[in-house]
Amino acid sequence: MPRSEPIKAVRGVRDLLPRDRPLWRAAELAAVDVARRFGYEEITTPLIEHAELIERVGEDTDAVAKELYRFEDRGGRKLALRPEATAGVVRAYFEGHLNQEPQPARLYLIGPMFRYNRPQKGRYRQFFQLDVEAIGSGSPALDAEVIEIAITWLHDLGLGEVRMDLNTIGDAKCRPAYLDLLRAYYRPLKDKLHADCQRRLETNPLLLLDCKVPQCQPFKVDAPRITDHLCEECAAAWAAVRRLLDAAGIEYHLDPYLVRGLDYYTRTVFEIYPARAGGSQDALAGGGRYDGLAEAEGWPPTPGVGFASGLDRVTEMVKAVGVEVIAAPAADVLVLPDAGLEVAAAEVARICRAVRSVAVDYEAKSLKAKMRSANKLGARWVVLLSAEDVKQRTAQLKEMASGDQVAVAWDDLPARLA
Ligand code: HAM
Repeated sequence: MPRSEPIKAVRGVRDLLPRDRPLWRAAELAAVDVARRFGYEEITTPLIEHAELIERVGEDTDAVAKELYRFEDRGGRKLALRPEATAGVVRAYFEGHLNQEPQPARLYLIGPMFRYNRPQKGRYRQFFQLDVEAIGSGSPALDAEVIEIAITWLHDLGLGEVRMDLNTIGDAKCRPAYLDLLRAYYRPLKDKLHADCQRRLETNPLLLLDCKVPQCQPFKVDAPRITDHLCEECAAAWAAVRRLLDAAGIEYHLDPYLVRGLDYYTRTVFEIYPARAGGSQDALAGGGRYDGLAEAEGWPPTPGVGFASGLDRVTEMVKAVGVEVIAAPAADVLVLPDAGLEVAAAEVARICRAVRSVAVDYEAKSLKAKMRSANKLGARWVVLLSAEDVKQRTAQLKEMASGDQVAVAWDDLPARLA
């Protein structure tokens, strides 16, 4: 019989091991903390949605057209693994009647997203996002608020050196005329564009500005700028957002060609990069306003704004800049019984667990080897148990740092460890 290969993880997904988790936990806790400080509440939505929910809001974008994990369940339903959270959060806002509560609903979510893209460092097929949404208000103050949340979170994690690109892409009133200008500009250049851009030129010309393919780059610089063609309302909102960011002391870089990959955006759009990077694959966060999304999903027209940030990239960056996250030891106390004393060891562990985290080393190995494990685990104390100790309901308590060892009655252990 040929031996089969051991089964490995699916391409593009990865495990977060105990050695990775302390940094991830620190990033998650910092996110929860900043969300709470701004009055945002946690929401959890399913990882699976009707494919139509996702497709309706971005049928021409890569995340949907090429990267969607789409499947049929056993009942023949067409489902998708969520590639992002916003569409689902907006659906939940209506289904959960959050629209009938004080507005806006301020919501955050941390969880996995799925995109079938080409895996590389910082780009995975399952990745995690912190997603923040303010739904039910069109106030530009909320655009600035969610940006401040993103910047504050990164800053709290030691990532103060970031660059934020900022733009507006107008709304249903002013954008159509601008898109006509954009089409008129690009049509004579059509043959020089790559295939997707040639097609999008007619269907969704805004995405031409988001194209990263080298052959399309030279034409961007002379393309008409939406900021020169905003309607009165969009121009006022655009000025207000910048005023609010200035007042908050948040720096931004105006990029008139920033349009974002998902096509539900209106007005404000932004992306945050490490200070010394370029190119979209390095974005730490991105977001914007999406006043047409609710309606695209079939719900009453409702404005919203938000962002998402990739925890995979953020934690990688925290590691790269050398911010240290001290991992708590797996257990404060390690109980080391001699062979055959499992029942007594479990009882001693139970007693110590009243005040400390406790693990028992049940492996049959030498005391020296057990002490090495205790050191590796970072235990502060070991509790040595021999048959003689068990008879007298005592144990040898050893403090690892000092090496001091004393005999202690089992019932006195909590007091000694407290
Ligand atoms: P997005 O720009 O597609 O926006 O993704 C946001 C962030 O998720 C990116 O900046 C990046 O950090 C991370 N990310 C995206 N794809 C991957 C990947 N394959 N591997 C690792 N990290 C990745 C959205 O998802 C919108 N829903 C944001 C939003 C919320 N807009 C309004 N509200």
